[in-house]
Amino acid sequence: MPYAHITGWGMSIPQKILTNDDLAKMVDTNDAWIQERTGIRERHIAAENQSTASLGAEAALHALRVANLAPTEIDLIICSTSSPEHTFPATACLIQDAIGATRAGAFDLSAACSGFIFAVNMGAQTIKTGSAKNVLVIGAETLSRFVDWNDRNICILFGDGAGAFVLQASDRPGGVISSVMRSDGSGSDLLSLPAGGSKHPASEITVHTGMHFIHMDGKEVFRFATRVMAQATIEVAEKAGWKTADLALIIPHQANRRIIDAAARGLKLPMEKFMVNVERYGNTSTASIPIATVEAVQQGRLKPGDKVVMVGFGAGLTWGALAAEWSGPISTERKLAPEWYAWFAPARSLVRRAIRLLEGLFFGRKS
Ligand code: COA
Repeated sequence: MPYAHITGWGMSIPQKILTNDDLAKMVDTNDAWIQERTGIRERHIAAENQSTASLGAEAALHALRVANLAPTEIDLIICSTSSPEHTFPATACLIQDAIGATRAGAFDLSAACSGFIFAVNMGAQTIKTGSAKNVLVIGAETLSRFVDWNDRNICILFGDGAGAFVLQASDRPGGVISSVMRSDGSGSDLLSLPAGGSKHPASEITVHTGMHFIHMDGKEVFRFATRVMAQATIEVAEKAGWKTADLALIIPHQANRRIIDAAARGLKLPMEKFMVNVERYGNTSTASIPIATVEAVQQGRLKPGDKVVMVGFGAGLTWGALAAEWSGPISTERKLAPEWYAWFAPARSLVRRAIRLLEGLFFGRKS
């Protein structure tokens, strides 16, 4: 059975920064309160011309470049998101088109802030069972579009961004070793976006009552998160045959610094073992773990051979973890930069649309 290695990683962050002081001009809050309760100093907000797919595509291209892979070599794209561009088509399909991954199947995965863990596990299983060789996993969010900027309980927390991994098959031992995926739908009301789905389609009432915004019971979510983070880390490490003391790094979902502190206490591990960057990005939901991973590599905190656990939690309720032996690129052959494929993507897309139009004109009436 092949191993599923993480061979590429990338991130994309919008330029616009919203600081705690900026928020204090919008709602009744202040920098000291936000920093003390969450550890967040600032977050990035997508510009009007940016979207979940455009951030996801940019992160994907960076990841492909690290892996030395061309978009056309990708077999499968999984995009984890809670802020998809549409109910359908999948945001993964828009990214597939944007980067020119013409051979790839693409679908979205919805498991909120735990989604990236679930998606990497799905990608790794697809490789291990032999149905794909190269998988692109993306976590992308523009949750700022679902935030009520008058609600101080919510608007201080979230930020936009995207991260991506390339997973590749190899006979060399390593890569994704074990995983844990859990859900508890009895807590579905604790963190939700109530309207816009089939239960509450958009209507004057849903808009008027703010049902298209994120709703959350912060205290309960906090309690749940502190309970599951340490548990899932221990479980996934045991499944891999490791002790938590063996871990070079733990990359937790970046929701709140206090939740990460509590996990460290629960695991009896020093904070140096945890990657933390929530202060600069806020909670980017499913994108937070890959973004933190990219920065961990850049800071030299993650090296080939290192044992790492990634652990997340979120709406659903969902939580999960994965244990991996860090790999690095396995393909050394230099390729045409992935960006080239992306530059030609709009022209290719246009040609395909034109062909469909002509086919409709010439053959449509016969059927
Ligand atoms: N600025 C200033 N004061 C605020 C505030 C803000 N942004 N938000 C709430 N407050 C006030 C409250 O009104 C309350 O005042 P009161 O005591 O006069 O009623 C007080 O601060 C304490 O509020 P509380 O909600 O108890 O704060 P908290 O310590 O639970 O912190 C969260 C709130 C949201 C930061 C915290 O519950 C949390 O992080 N929860 C987890 C959320 C999360 O991670 N969600 C994503 C999961 S993926």
